[in-house]
Amino acid sequence: MKQDNRPVVIVGNWKMYKTLPEAQTFVQELSSLVQETSILVYLAVPFTIIRPLVAQMADTPIAIGAQNMHDASEGAYTGEIAGRMLKETGARFVILGHSERRRLFHESNAIINRKMQRAVEEELQPILCIGETLEEREQGLTQQVLATQLTECLEGFKGTQLQSLMLAYEPVWAIGTDKNATPEIAEEVHLLCRNWLEENLGKRAAKRTPILYGGSVKPVNATEILKQPNVDGLLVGGASLSAKTFGEIINSAQNLENQEGS
Ligand code: PGA
Repeated sequence: MKQDNRPVVIVGNWKMYKTLPEAQTFVQELSSLVQETSILVYLAVPFTIIRPLVAQMADTPIAIGAQNMHDASEGAYTGEIAGRMLKETGARFVILGHSERRRLFHESNAIINRKMQRAVEEELQPILCIGETLEEREQGLTQQVLATQLTECLEGFKGTQLQSLMLAYEPVWAIGTDKNATPEIAEEVHLLCRNWLEENLGKRAAKRTPILYGGSVKPVNATEILKQPNVDGLLVGGASLSAKTFGEIINSAQNLENQEGS
């Protein structure tokens, strides 16, 4: 648990990796590496394997979810997938606004806002990703960029409508680059986000919303980042593809919990 009883959450984002047999081997291996844990473990997997993994993980604490969805409830959108279709597969959550979606698929804050509305309507837990580019950081624009992303992606929402929201701060310069943000940078930005939540969605939302850090998280840096008071969890890309490294990250989070609890 973090301050104000926020849970510690470790999310693996598999991106466009893993067929069903590969995923099944992974979860078997992970289950043997991670025994009883109080950490919330989420896996964001390709659409095609959500349903079988939900079935396989039914009696475990691991939640299965998606990496994206369309904002309409249905329609002529060739190649897209609707929130209610995800819901039907048993997906519990959906990542929205990942920087790869923003950059490669031209998702704007306005589109992400509509997806947020749909996710809430379908009762899929949204993990909203925000983050600045290197250029923006170097120009001293980090705070402004994040505030704009939060304002536009969460426009129209009241705090009470976002009971299950999780935020993920993922600096674009840290994703897949082996250059993670320092624990100090992560804490500084997470605090900014928490203050934004308090000012715009109220004290309760600010206290309950887990804010995860993502960007080159590895077993070697996970503990130091997680030690920060406003870092409630991690969104892990590359290192979540191996059960061994992902398991190590979960186990370090658990060790930290045990130390802090004792
Ligand atoms: P990474 O990716 O851990 O490979 O940097 C993080 C993400 O894209 O969510």
